[in-house]
Amino acid sequence: MRKSLTMIAMAVVLFTAAFMLFGCEGPQGPGGKDGKDGTNTGLLALEGFAPNARCGDCHTPGQDSLYFVAGRKYQWAQSRHALGGNSERNGASCAGCHTTEGFIQRMNGQTVTNQYQPSPPGCFACHSPHARAEFSLRKATAVTIGSNIAGVADALFDYGAGNVCVQCHQTRTMSPKMPGAPGPTDTVTITNERWYSHYGVQGQVLMGEGGFKFPGYTYRGNSNHSVNAAIKTKGCPTCHMVEQAYSPNLGTGKAGGHTMNIRYYTEEGALDTVYHLVSCNATGCHGANFFNETSYRNAIRPIEDSLHVLETLLTAKNWLTSSGTVRAGGTYGPLKITPAVKAGALYNFLLIEHDLSKGIHNTKYAQDLINSSIQALRTP
Ligand code: HEC
Ligand code: HEC
Ligand code: HEC
Ligand code: HEC
Ligand code: HEC
Repeated sequence: MRKSLTMIAMAVVLFTAAFMLFGCEGPQGPGGKDGKDGTNTGLLALEGFAPNARCGDCHTPGQDSLYFVAGRKYQWAQSRHALGGNSERNGASCAGCHTTEGFIQRMNGQTVTNQYQPSPPGCFACHSPHARAEFSLRKATAVTIGSNIAGVADALFDYGAGNVCVQCHQTRTMSPKMPGAPGPTDTVTITNERWYSHYGVQGQVLMGEGGFKFPGYTYRGNSNHSVNAAIKTKGCPTCHMVEQAYSPNLGTGKAGGHTMNIRYYTEEGALDTVYHLVSCNATGCHGANFFNETSYRNAIRPIEDSLHVLETLLTAKNWLTSSGTVRAGGTYGPLKITPAVKAGALYNFLLIEHDLSKGIHNTKYAQDLINSSIQALRTP
């Protein structure tokens, strides 16, 4: 039933389009009466076509040199957006980020509903190609990222084209919040294994927000990435979407562009990953301090190593399970941490771990949060 409706809808669209292209025009008749309001078919997100949409601009894979839709579709198909598998997080509270349908609702200011035929974040999430007949970003305004530390204000993320990313790569609420200025005898009681700001914390870390700062520790501030002029204008795509030039083993279409990957495998079954480092070496960025595989790995090692030290300390305290999850809720019952300030170490660990960039987004900030957390746990 649904399928045949879709077929009819497509036939109507194609017929109308053909008519727009080939139909001959007579004198215009008088306008008709307003029609009855349609009934809600459940297709809340249906946006229709712009009157000037020329199907062939985008649907001619044989000769598309305007938008390279086929190429970009191929890149996207290899991204975690397409392959991650978490678009089955399709309930109303998850679909706003995990599905294209829910995201469109959220961006339109509609109530996000359960999505029973969800598709992962795809072309129509970040763009609105049919309704606009081009590929501008659906929304590129600054995004407020909620703070999960009591008393710390929300942050306003404003990094140009990266703003669309942070519509999803942002925090979710966490309960209880990390206390902002706990007293020496205060306790935090954690009753849920998901005591963290969800997974997309990259926007916060890039800005240098969201971490718990231990009183008395001197934090050095942010790395250049937070304020770099190119990154301020283009945000996350500066590094994640720079296209790969063709070259053997550079893996055109495996990283950069709409794959949004930086780390990738050259071929299926390859043992080691390689990195797409073209953006690091751009003028205005590292330029002469050329990054290659070796120097890149050296750059991420201190964060990887110290994060591992922090994890070991947290596991030894029994705050993390051996599989790295918060030891609270379910069969574990509540996790009580006294003095509450030390919970900041657990909170910071999960922030930097979920950022997934091994500090690259904001190395100084990440390293200081890790070091201060280690120091706090080692202080009796
Ligand atoms: C500005 C670019 C653009 C224009 C113009 C455009 N489309 Fe699309 N369309 C897309 C993209 C991108 C997709 C999703 C990727 C894909 O399926 O190729 C898509 C998907 C579709 C699909 C769904 C295909 C599927 O398998 O789900 C149909 C049907 C379609 N377009 C029809 C049309 C028709 C008819 C027109 C002209 C009236 C048109 N499009 C104009 C970009 C465009
Ligand atoms: C509609 C919401 C949404 C938008 C917009 C979005 N993402 Fe994502 N992104 C996700 C989700 C959800 C995942 C995880 C997918 C999964 O596991 O199914 C993800 C995964 C990723 C990953 C892979 C992470 C990993 O663990 O391997 C990268 C890299 C990424 N996104 C970068 C970006 C960039 C860069 C932008 C902006 C150009 C962006 N995303 C915009 C929702 C979004
Ligand atoms: C504000 C947007 C947003 C909402 C709402 C959201 N998520 Fe996510 N979620 C993300 C993003 C972005 C990622 C991918 C982060 C990455 O890999 O960097 C993600 C990743 C995940 C992952 C993968 C974690 C991993 O280890 O790779 C799971 C599982 C998940 N979300 C579950 C849920 C569930 C369940 C809900 C609803 C209760 C939900 N999410 C609501 C944005 C969101
Ligand atoms: C997760 C978000 C996201 C998804 C999904 C996505 N795009 Fe994009 N797209 C972007 C961003 C960000 C840019 C770069 C904008 C910039 O640099 O200013 C872009 C740029 C483009 C451009 C170049 C814009 C221009 O005017 O030349 C095209 C074409 C395009 N995307 C097509 C697609 C197609 C086709 C798909 C689906 C296969 C897709 N995009 C999916 C975020 C996304
Ligand atoms: C300065 C360049 C740069 C900028 C800007 C940047 N990233 Fe990254 N990102 C990286 C690097 C490098 C990695 C680490 C890749 C690795 O070593 O696995 C990474 C990792 C990630 C990952 C994990 C990917 C994976 O495969 O595990 C996600 C998700 C991500 N970034 C999202 C974002 C988002 C969202 C933004 C904007 C808020 C952003 N990034 C801005 C360079 C950047």
